[in-house]
Amino acid sequence: MTASAMYPGTFDPITLGHEDLVRRACRIFDKVVVAIAANPSKEPMFTLEERVELAQSTLGDLSNVQVSGYDGLTVDFARDRGLSVILRGLRAVSDFEYEFQLANMNRHLAEDVETAFLTPTETYNFISSSLVREICSMGGDISEFVSPIVNDALKKRVKT
Ligand code: COA
Repeated sequence: MTASAMYPGTFDPITLGHEDLVRRACRIFDKVVVAIAANPSKEPMFTLEERVELAQSTLGDLSNVQVSGYDGLTVDFARDRGLSVILRGLRAVSDFEYEFQLANMNRHLAEDVETAFLTPTETYNFISSSLVREICSMGGDISEFVSPIVNDALKKRVKT
């Protein structure tokens, strides 16, 4: 049996932790769609188009990965694209409570869509996009946490 998955998130910007998860997922699923939520309530640093472009550049070598922006419910995107699995990363126990709530709510909204969890490698389990943005805006080195393309984009953005 084969399945296609969506990996939703804000990806503001995509980090090596996200990338690690996508690389693991594309060995398990036929197709993985990295679904970038507009998420205006988070007031993202990068526009939706920029976040999509950064993710595409970072993941361009993976033939069964697609990147797409979306606005609206995650389960609607999954159903519209025929994706039967929502994939999320669990970095630490502290992620669990929120992820459990999200997964149960999504199941309530769409019983035919399952949520699956993967853990990133321990090297990346302390990374988050907001920490990376904060460190970069204060002149810190983020090259260990993001791809070179994202590093350049962040440095340019914090200068403007
Ligand atoms: N590596 C590195 N960082 C990771 C990570 C990993 N493997 N997994 C998660 N993170 C980080 C993210 O970068 C983010 O960091 P930040 O807050 O510093 O930006 C954080 O962990 C998780 O943020 P969270 O808000 O939980 O998730 P998200 O922003 O990635 O995505 C959506 C949340 C988009 C999935 C959710 O809001 C959603 O589904 N929205 C669409 C509307 C909808 O359907 N609502 C109903 C939901 S029931």
